[in-house]
Amino acid sequence: MDFRHLSFDTAPSITTPPPGPRSRELLAFQAAHEASAVSYPKGLPLALRRGRGATVEDVDGNVYIDFFGGAGVMAVGHANPEVIAAVQQQLPELTHALDFPTPARRGLVEALLPVLPGALGRVLFGGPTGSDAVESAVKLARFNTGRMPLVAFEGSYHGMTSGALALSSGQPYKGRFLPLDLVPGP
Ligand SMILES: Cc1ncc(COP(=O)(O)O)c(C=O)c1O
Repeated sequence: MDFRHLSFDTAPSITTPPPGPRSRELLAFQAAHEASAVSYPKGLPLALRRGRGATVEDVDGNVYIDFFGGAGVMAVGHANPEVIAAVQQQLPELTHALDFPTPARRGLVEALLPVLPGALGRVLFGGPTGSDAVESAVKLARFNTGRMPLVAFEGSYHGMTSGALALSSGQPYKGRFLPLDLVPGP
């Protein structure tokens, strides 16, 4: 499809210095009623209303170029009409099917198989997050090699689930969540 006209053509446009009053109100509500585990709004205090293509609009009407793209998973952009049409077609038919085969599932596998790298001839449907992917990679490596130790780069971040966190580097991330015999003393 032609992506050129998908984004807001006013981006970037700041009409109210962010975070504007509506953003501040939603941020305050979130801080009061959600767990403190949220991370992105702490570094980038914005509340978002809608997105088109590679642009997003906050609740105060400021429009931004979205260089983040949902941490890289939104390559087709916000409100992509082809994605919306596919979702609208599928949801009324069957909304959740665990891992039972379905025609839609087969269609996705058939689209992925030709682009898989060389030796990979199968598709694994993991969870929706990066941490899930790391957990799967750790289990696959251990299952196939029979070896338990893992090596990670210093400074690496692999996610917030327990296994991915253990593989991440640095006390700020994981210091309080290590196995008891590895927790540093006071
Ligand atoms: C390299 C890397 N691995 C794993 C993750 C964890 O992904 P998620 O937050 O989707 O669980 C991240 C998230 O920032 C990441 O940057």
